[in-house]
Amino acid sequence: MVSPAKLKKLSHEHGTPLFVVDHAELRKNFKQFKKYLPRVQPYYAMKANPAPAIVRTLYKAGASFDVASMPEFLIVHENIKNLSAKQRQDFIWDKIIYAHPIKAIKTLKELDQYKPLVTYDNAEEIGKIKKYAPNAGLALRLKVPNTGAMVELSSKFGAEPGEAVELMLKAKNAGLGVEGISFHVGSQTTNFQNYVQAIQLSSSIFKESESRGLKLKLLDIGGGFPAPYDDGVKPFKELAAVLNSELDRLFPKEVEILAEPGRYMVATAATLVASVIGKAIRDGKLCYYIDDGVYHTYSGIIFDHCKYNVHTFKKGRGGATQICSVFGPTCDALDTISLSAELPENLQLGDLVYTPNIGAYSQASSTYFNGFPPAKVVHINEE
Ligand SMILES: Cc1ncc(COP(=O)(O)O)c(C=O)c1O
Repeated sequence: MVSPAKLKKLSHEHGTPLFVVDHAELRKNFKQFKKYLPRVQPYYAMKANPAPAIVRTLYKAGASFDVASMPEFLIVHENIKNLSAKQRQDFIWDKIIYAHPIKAIKTLKELDQYKPLVTYDNAEEIGKIKKYAPNAGLALRLKVPNTGAMVELSSKFGAEPGEAVELMLKAKNAGLGVEGISFHVGSQTTNFQNYVQAIQLSSSIFKESESRGLKLKLLDIGGGFPAPYDDGVKPFKELAAVLNSELDRLFPKEVEILAEPGRYMVATAATLVASVIGKAIRDGKLCYYIDDGVYHTYSGIIFDHCKYNVHTFKKGRGGATQICSVFGPTCDALDTISLSAELPENLQLGDLVYTPNIGAYSQASSTYFNGFPPAKVVHINEE
């Protein structure tokens, strides 16, 4: 995490709420991912935080990208617009996946000129892609267990394993290029068995598909790689060891393996600094009001089902803390950051509080509700 002294200095310079993005941490996360999963090419899932500066840093580090809307695609495209037409096309084909199984016709029409790789999970979508983006390559999104993930995705997307080969043959017979399979085990997956089961399922689908005349080239193991929000999250190295052994056991070297990490790349790269703007005792409990909340950087509490800790730079008398409520600045009671924050009782108006590891699914879903704009963003250690 960025040092307390630096966070204080930046807040004095820029005011609060302040979202501090540390690009050295982004580069470190990317490097770690590559180090522990050497066979897997990371496609940064930019929905986690689409800030162009973040995308640029990861682009320079050699990342590929998972995009799920035209605006996201165009943010990546900004980085390659000066390449030759051939280099640009090679980059799009090799390094971008449009990983949204349901695409509007308008999107498909726009995408077709770029000949991207796209995911799909149903027959209706095959008809749409055939008609509006026939140059796209296809990866079938498979439904896999999301047991124990913080964010479940399997109720919304994914072909049933029993239909997978049929859906791929149907696309092939429609004249489309089917490249492989993708899955997502659920975001913030601390249950590593989800990956093991999904990889094993994919392997059996690869085999069945080959026996029916369709040889697949690519496996996309999706996102879900957990951020170290608390001590209960096992180190990435341990997950990587499990993945490496399953991938090497079940997939020959020539199968290309990719992944779509979002949270893992960006969660630890940002810290939010906010100020105490109010203080009250309600039903005997100390309540702090701060200038950022769940309609803003803490929106992950609602959309991402994530719990955040609020810390202070100031020590209580004798180091004492008590259970407090922490509320955001809006008029809505939903704007509750925590009902059980351990904070000292001596915070004063204007004192700073901070939340580390808040880079993913936070600022990305911040709103202007109640007239409060999203936190100011500062980028540090950019290269
Ligand atoms: C298709 C897809 N890929 C990747 C991601 C990123 O997941 P994570 O942030 O858990 O790595 C998501 C998140 O919802 C997703 O829907």
